[in-house]
This record gives sequence, structure tokens and C-alpha cells, in this order.
Amino acid sequence: MSTNAVDASQPAGPSFTAPGTLTPVLTEHWGEDRSWTLEHYLSVGGYEGLARAKTMSPEELIGLVKGSNLRGRGGAGFPTGLKWSFLPPMDGAPRYLVVNADESEPGTCKDIPTILANPQALIEGIAITSRAIGGDLAFVYLRGEVTHVYRRLLAAVREAADSGLLSTGFGLDGEQPLRIVAHAGAGAYICGEETALLDSLEGRRGHPRLKPPFPAVAGLYGRPTVINNVETIASVPGILAKGADWYNAMGTERSKGHGIFSVSGHVVSPGQFEAPFGITMRQLIEFAGGIRPGHSLKFWVPGGSSTPIFTPDELDVPLDYESVAGAGSMLGTRALQVFDDTVSVVRVVARWTEFYQHESCGKCTPCREGTYWMRQIMLRLEAGKGIPGDVEKLEDIASNIAGRSFCALGDASATPVLSGIKRFRDEFEAGYTTPARELFPYRASSILESAR
Ligand SMILES: Cc1cc2nc3c(=O)[nH]c(=O)nc-3n(C[C@H](O)[C@H](O)[C@H](O)COP(=O)(O)O)c2cc1C
Ligand code: SF4
Repeated sequence: MSTNAVDASQPAGPSFTAPGTLTPVLTEHWGEDRSWTLEHYLSVGGYEGLARAKTMSPEELIGLVKGSNLRGRGGAGFPTGLKWSFLPPMDGAPRYLVVNADESEPGTCKDIPTILANPQALIEGIAITSRAIGGDLAFVYLRGEVTHVYRRLLAAVREAADSGLLSTGFGLDGEQPLRIVAHAGAGAYICGEETALLDSLEGRRGHPRLKPPFPAVAGLYGRPTVINNVETIASVPGILAKGADWYNAMGTERSKGHGIFSVSGHVVSPGQFEAPFGITMRQLIEFAGGIRPGHSLKFWVPGGSSTPIFTPDELDVPLDYESVAGAGSMLGTRALQVFDDTVSVVRVVARWTEFYQHESCGKCTPCREGTYWMRQIMLRLEAGKGIPGDVEKLEDIASNIAGRSFCALGDASATPVLSGIKRFRDEFEAGYTTPARELFPYRASSILESAR
């Protein structure tokens, strides 16, 4: 990773200074010495947002966040203040905030670094949000494999609690302390789906729940619950401290504010680039030092493996929710994966399909069975042992998963297959006779010298 250092244990590195285009807010101090400590966070204005929040009523807080036009950063872009306003009136019984830190989609890599480098922004955001929704107990559901991040989160929660920052102005009787539980999941992609997450948090196997009722009405332990992504909640303190107008001044007409764009793959300097919505992939690739020397861009995805594939034709599409959708894909989690001319689309789609098959929770038939069959066919196409008609069969299976599954994981599994065939049908059909590694020698795609 390059600038806006993700590895916060390293000495201070360069930060983005390019004028006009990048807007480091959450990532501004990631490269600084011990950026994750409370001391550092306070030295750069941390907890000013919470101080302001404490002067405001829950209604005023929700109104402010609505006015900022902050949208959920977990993929769907749902308006955050509106989501908070769906909770029924307080009735004296518990209501919860659950932060979704499961981050498991291939390519997505912004929440884990945020917690690693700047956990206090999340904790301050949790405190403000809990006040807005009238809760005094919040959970962070963290992807289980990242033990080092779990430790850092636990330490950060303890530091904030010990400092007394989480001890006043919360809860239903005004002075009740806010408690934050950091929960490590066991590492299942489906547990990022908000209702499966709730099942898992309650101690059950993570399976999506039927909606309605929505979590706002009956969520964790059957109580009103707000579920938001890490980046969403970490963005809240800035809005409190600097105001809705400041936030609205960034972005495009309906996609306001700043977001972390994670560029990975065949660029010279992959990394996290925090920018206003509306930046283009062409600009981001320039910030990432360009495509690696001697190669050209073949295809890319704007928001992780479950968003339809783009080609160089879409390099100038503004990266906001509406423009990306208008161009035929989804902004998703802004996990921008770059693939150059050495890459076999069939190979990439086969890996993604294996992932979805492995992660399918098995609750519904189209996804459970369909991902299994798509995987079989993708593997034989990759091996050059496809059977004529396989491409049509893939289209048929994928079309019967999409829109017919219980949750969005099913749709996600169909997307790379359908968009891969749409854009690169010839490569799929070549799989009837020729192994992908013969057409695109795998060593040429490696970004590690040692693997070439
Ligand atoms: C299979 C699947 C996995 C998901 N994984 C995540 C995740 O890791 N993190 C996340 O914030 N949202 C994830 N989501 C979206 C959540 O269901 C939910 O929409 C999101 O947490 C809401 O937060 P937001 O409004 O702040 O975006 C996932 C959805 C699906 C269908
Ligand atoms: S679509 Fe897949 S992950 Fe979602 S409920 Fe059905 S089997 Fe489970």
C-alpha cells in the first residue's frame, strides 16, 4: 500500500496533498505516529463533535445528519439520518446501535484500516449515534480473522471508557454510561448481511432473516436497532464538528461528502484514496501512479466483486451512486479492483464464483444449488474443458439466482458471471478448447516478483 498509510504501525509516511481532488478526512492522520491513540485523536480535534452533540436533542441530531445527506457506506447508500428516524419512539426499553465491521467482500478494504489507524473516530461516532437514537449499548461486529484489529478496537474502547469520554449524557436517564461491545465473528461473509449479523450476534448460526420486520422495528433481541457500516459511523463526528454545509459542499448532486476509495490490483501504488464522490477512475488511477509499466487497463470493478465489470470505456464515469448505476454497475463499497491486459477474465470470475459458493449460507435453493453449479462450470471453462453450451447454461443459472434468492448474496454471485460473459464472451467460449492459463499465463499477472 502506498500513501495514506494503511499500516499505522509504520513511521509517519507521506499524505495526500494533491489540491482539489482528494479530501482526506477520516484518513488524514493515518500516516502519523501512533495515530490510533486517544491522545493523538484529541490532539487533532477529536471528540469536538461529541461535545457539540451533547448540546443537542436526539431529534436535532437526526435532523442534522439528515441535512448532511450522509448515505450508508456499507454498499447500498441508504440515507443515514432517515434510517435513524425509522426507530419507533422511545419506550424506556433498550434500543441498540450495531456497527457492521464484517468487511469480507473481495476487494473491500476500508473499514479494517479505519479501525486500525483511527478507531477513536468510530468510537466517537458510536457515542453520537447512540445519543441520537437513545441507546446506551452498542456493538461492533468485527470480521473474526483480523485478530490484531480486534485487539486494537478493544484497547481503543477501553481507552475511551477509562478517560470518562463515554460516561455522561447518554442513555435514557441522562447519566447512564455508554457501553460498547466489540464482538469478533467467526469469519463468514453472510454475517455482513445485516440480519444474518444479528442472528450471529445473538449466538445463532448467521442466516438472513425475513424482512419485514426491519431491524429498526425488531432487530437485536427483538428491539429497535440501527445497523450502520464502520465508515458511515466514523463520518458522523466530522459532520457534527464541521456542520452539514461543510459536508454538503463535497460530492455530487445526490451523493454528498467524502468517501474512501480503495484501489487495488495492477496499479503502481495501490492504496486508500479519500475523495469527494464524483471523482473518476481515471483520476484515481493517476493518483495510484498509473497502470503498472508496460501494460494497459483491461477491466475493473467499481465496488467489489459483486458489482458489474467495467472496461476502459467507463474510466470517466463520476464515481457516485447515480452515475455508476446509470453506466450499468454499482458503486458498492468503492473497492476498485484493477486488472491489466495480462488477466484472464475467466480466471477472475472463477475465483469470485468459488468465493460465493463457499460463502453461500445454504438457506435458499437458488443460491445454494446455483453457486455450486456455476462453480463447476467456471472451473471447467478455466481448465479449457468446457462443454459447448456451458456459457448459455451459466447465463441460465445466474439469471435464475438473481432476483430469486432470499438475500443479496445470491444476486452478488450472479453478477460477475453475467457481466463477465456480457463483456468478454469470447474468452468464456475459448474455455471450450483452451485453458485460461494458456491464453493468459498466470505468472504474468502476478504483482509479486517472487511469483513470476
Ligand atoms: C452478503 C452481504 C454482505 C454484506 N457485508 C457487509 C459488510 O461487511 N459491511 C457492511 O457494512 N455492510 C455489509 N452488507 C450490507 C449490510 O446488509 C447493510 O446494508 C449495511 O451494514 C448498512 O449500513 P449502512 O447503511 O451504513 O451502509 C452486506 C450485505 C450482504 C447482502
Ligand atoms: S441468497 Fe445465499 S446467502 Fe442469501 S439466504 Fe439464500 S443461500 Fe443464504
